[in-house]
Amino acid sequence: MSKIIIEGGRKLEGAVRVHGSKNAVLPILAATVLNGGKNVIYDCPKLKDVYASLEILKCLGCNVSWEGNTLIVDSQTISTHYIPENLMREMRSSIIFLGAIIARCRNAIISYPGGCELGPRPIDLHIKAFKQLGIKIDESHGYISCKVDNIECDSIHLDFPSVGATENIMLACVLSNGITTISNAAKEPEIVDLQDYLNKMGAKICGAGTSVITIEGVKSLKDVCHTVIPDRIVAASYLAATAITGGTVTVENIMPLHMQPIISVFKDCGLDITEDKTSITLDAKKQIHQIDFLRTLPHPGFPTDAQAPIMAVLSIADGTSIIAENMFENRFKHVAELARMGADIKIDGRIAIVRGVKRLSGAKVTATDLRGAAGLIIAGLNAEGETEVDGLCHLDRGYENFEGNLQSIGAKIIRR
Ligand code: EPU
Repeated sequence: MSKIIIEGGRKLEGAVRVHGSKNAVLPILAATVLNGGKNVIYDCPKLKDVYASLEILKCLGCNVSWEGNTLIVDSQTISTHYIPENLMREMRSSIIFLGAIIARCRNAIISYPGGCELGPRPIDLHIKAFKQLGIKIDESHGYISCKVDNIECDSIHLDFPSVGATENIMLACVLSNGITTISNAAKEPEIVDLQDYLNKMGAKICGAGTSVITIEGVKSLKDVCHTVIPDRIVAASYLAATAITGGTVTVENIMPLHMQPIISVFKDCGLDITEDKTSITLDAKKQIHQIDFLRTLPHPGFPTDAQAPIMAVLSIADGTSIIAENMFENRFKHVAELARMGADIKIDGRIAIVRGVKRLSGAKVTATDLRGAAGLIIAGLNAEGETEVDGLCHLDRGYENFEGNLQSIGAKIIRR
């Protein structure tokens, strides 16, 4: 098992480019099932979760090929509506294939996704919405079997603005015979990218990015080419890495509008940020200020996926910060590892109290989830001495060449 070794204390300087968004491309990969044709996806990140999705697409009968970071999926040859357990277990978010397979095949059988490293991951909102669309669902022996003749278009209200449920409903309704509205829909930028992708295919969807999305069903879809939006969480991670080392870095290929909830927190930390059309420069020469109260919330609130990276930064702030994790109940696992590095953090339920220390110290730590892995590496960039980060299978789910990019802006970091 490889590890990342970091010699902390080097200021990051220069420019780094952000790759395409994992959480945008995963539902787009599910959407490739819909058109029965060619899908060309530019700036597709080479990540473990993307490869897991490609295995599902191949299992369904799609042809998949790469040209650099361009992915080509041909879904004309789909031959089954069944995803076996071993493929579903690879990635919890593969539940978003359900809507697309139902739409294309009118039947879908997938293994139940179960829990994950972030705690139990219920799919009750997906199931409730599907039932409202007239889809017959049988949940037994660890499988979800769905069947529908015609989607019964309806007004669906989500009790919580779930990203995955919003995407699944959009996918399920694209090829229907009427109009479906989703209220209290998730407003994340990745939902807007999915709408753009589907509309390029010939779908008629509007409202993504607001809390009401309208899907007017169409009869058929066509070939599509699309560039995935940049990954705002990867961008946030490079900003956090810059902040914790007191460096100055330009993070390129970002959409400033997507970054506002993150930029505002770095500004609250007293750091200087300059925004350009497609880049942000963070100058972290000043001491990092504590933050009174930071809450993770659905977009446009502060994203839960950036919580671990920002916690690493706040662990060396000039006072005490309070972080409330409102999205996932088990998303503080990195805290015990940060403590091994000298961070002073107490947890009470969903609240973390982070008392800033002068500097972290290098230690052997183990990542147990994706964003926690990034948080630990960011902490290692500050720590005195050597930090060894284990559990890289989690990092590789969402960051392409993280250590290589950090190296290119001055970090002393290697994987071995
Ligand atoms: N929830 C339910 N019932 C449901 C669906 C969700 O109770 O039927 C709860 C979840 O348990 C969770 C909350 O609602 O507590 C939010 O879940 P949501 O459905 O919005 O999240 P998701 O679609 O499962 C996506 C991202 C996550 C990101 C969240 C929140 C993808 C592939 N995943 O997950 O990304 O944290 O939205 O923004 O888009 C990550 O990249 O590290 C990651 C975990």
